Amino acid sequence: MGKECVCAFGPPGLLHFDMPPPYERHIFVCTNRRPDGHPKGCCALKGSEEIHGLFKAELARRGLKGQVRANSAGCLDACEYGVSVVVYPEGVWYGGVRPEDVPEIIEQHLVGGRPVERLRMPFKGERARSG
Ligand code: FES
Repeated sequence: MGKECVCAFGPPGLLHFDMPPPYERHIFVCTNRRPDGHPKGCCALKGSEEIHGLFKAELARRGLKGQVRANSAGCLDACEYGVSVVVYPEGVWYGGVRPEDVPEIIEQHLVGGRPVERLRMPFKGERARSG
């Protein structure tokens, strides 16, 4: 017998798959760190921890803290494109993100609803086909 759901989104005992997410958008910034010299590299050595902090600070400064959440994430399996960032619910993947890109992503995508095309990375399927 399974455990009863006791989350805050609905009555206990029901599965709440249809409940709205607690945030309008969710940003995941890969902060995975590998040792220096690792052949795959990693986003942390490309400055992703700073970028994650910049997202958090800028969202708070703009009063978006309850609407958009920026989380650090483990490896998103797009290491060659790092710093890797993905925004849900759209599922837009950004690659090569630098600190100076954070305000543009927030302003254009998270506030304006238009992804920053120049930073989008190919989807994994597209990478596989082109490689
Ligand atoms: S280390 Fe960032 S995507 Fe793999």
